[in-house]
Amino acid sequence: MFGKRGAGDPSGGTTRPGGIPAAAPGVGAPVAQTPPPPRAEAPPRPESLPRGAQVPVPEAVIERRNDDYYRVKTTIFNALIDTIDLGQLAQLDAESAREEIRDIVIEIISIKNVVMTISEQEALLEDICNDILGYGPLEPLLARDDIADIMVNGPSNVFIEVAGKVQKTSIRFRDNSQLMNICQRIVSQVGRRVDESSPICDARLPDGSRVNVIAPPLALDGPTLTIRKFKKDKLRMADLVKFGSISPAGARILSVIGHCRANILISGGTGSGKTTLLNCLTAFIETDERVITCEDAAELQLQQPHVVRLETRPPNLEGSGQVTMRDLVRNCLRMRPERIIVGEVRGPEAFDLLQAMNTGHDGSMGTLHANSPREALSRLESMITMGGFSLPSRTIREMIVGSIDVVVQASRLRDGSRKIINITEVVGLEGDVIITQDIMNFEIQGEDANGKITGRHRSTGIGRPRFWERARYFNLERELAEALDEAEGR
Ligand SMILES: Nc1ncnc2c1ncn2[C@@H]1O[C@H](COP(=O)(O)OP(=O)(O)O)[C@@H](O)[C@H]1O
Ligand SMILES: [Mg+2]
Repeated sequence: MFGKRGAGDPSGGTTRPGGIPAAAPGVGAPVAQTPPPPRAEAPPRPESLPRGAQVPVPEAVIERRNDDYYRVKTTIFNALIDTIDLGQLAQLDAESAREEIRDIVIEIISIKNVVMTISEQEALLEDICNDILGYGPLEPLLARDDIADIMVNGPSNVFIEVAGKVQKTSIRFRDNSQLMNICQRIVSQVGRRVDESSPICDARLPDGSRVNVIAPPLALDGPTLTIRKFKKDKLRMADLVKFGSISPAGARILSVIGHCRANILISGGTGSGKTTLLNCLTAFIETDERVITCEDAAELQLQQPHVVRLETRPPNLEGSGQVTMRDLVRNCLRMRPERIIVGEVRGPEAFDLLQAMNTGHDGSMGTLHANSPREALSRLESMITMGGFSLPSRTIREMIVGSIDVVVQASRLRDGSRKIINITEVVGLEGDVIITQDIMNFEIQGEDANGKITGRHRSTGIGRPRFWERARYFNLERELAEALDEAEGR
């Protein structure tokens, strides 16, 4: 064991506070100064940590932590910080560091006469180790696979999204500065810094989760942290069918669309499942195609062997060195791609993507933020206009019609479920108007007893979509005909 403990034997058996020299200044009043409560009458906070709690800390325990728990934790934590040498601790591997912290915490608990069961001790230890070695109170949330987003609005409001529903947790940070330290630790891993002078920062956790931090004075109620958790096991088309996000026939239609190299735009709101859907569609790419992906933060997981992954770069602290999505997409064109995949189209790169789709890079795809296929197309147009290309709007529309074959609309419904609600194809231009037709829609029928939305995916009865010829060329004509029949319920 090591530490900056004073001479003599700090663990000296029966010694009372004082054995650990630094205990006095750092320790909060409640436990240090009051005489130890008699064991029989006052087991501390029996409601906060149930007996039998296991490590890692179960959700139930996290849910029930109360003020007492945080007070005891602060006391022990402060004593620990005063005792331990953090510099030396940092040299150890995680396991030894944990052991070291464990020894000292157990000692502090005994010296301060804090009464707790072994399982309560374990839970507290886990919590303290997380604070010192990891992301503090966020650790148990980061360890859970069922959480899609973690939203921290200042130190005492932490929300999570589970199964499409946002809920508040009882996780808390000690104060703004603990939360800020954790934010700092996260962004320093990508070589950045957050403070008053640069209060906005994007980063990524080592597991690939995307992080955004916005700090005071811009965020009024304390540092605000948003984490989109990286799912190791991405959902596949079969999962989407299982969840009812798309019908089996709908999945067959999408498979034909993917295989016959239609150019696809995926549209949807934030968190509606666009990236997930894009990832599913990439499964239909042949293994011998050269694919280049451009993303702001690499999320896609392509299974094919011939994939080049590119990522944009924000400007550095001095404001230089930025590489935009447009830079990447333009560069892509010089890399002999067969398909180009753009994680999210937000700006002038729309123009380059359309050009790529138009010039022999069939089967390219991208996602875009819009609430309907029509809106997706008009957003595409305005991105090009706002990008400073002085083209007449008819020309831009011609480009869109000549490039995009299919728009797939994803949506997160009010019951939290995610659905593909339209598969729409771009038919052509009539006068100045882009004509589209839905191939399949999700019809909402009502709500079941549990508040789940019921409905079904139905074909609109179009027998011969515009990509029919394309399907025929790829020998998928029959498959398409059958899928369309199935979708109509015939
Ligand atoms: N069809 C689906 N059913 C259930 N969960 C889904 C579905 N599609 C996406 N998700 C989950 O929703 C979250 C957001 O999905 P994502 O594809 O990143 O959305 P977007 O790109 O639209 O912001 C992820 O955690 C993802 O696993
Ligand atoms: Mg996305």
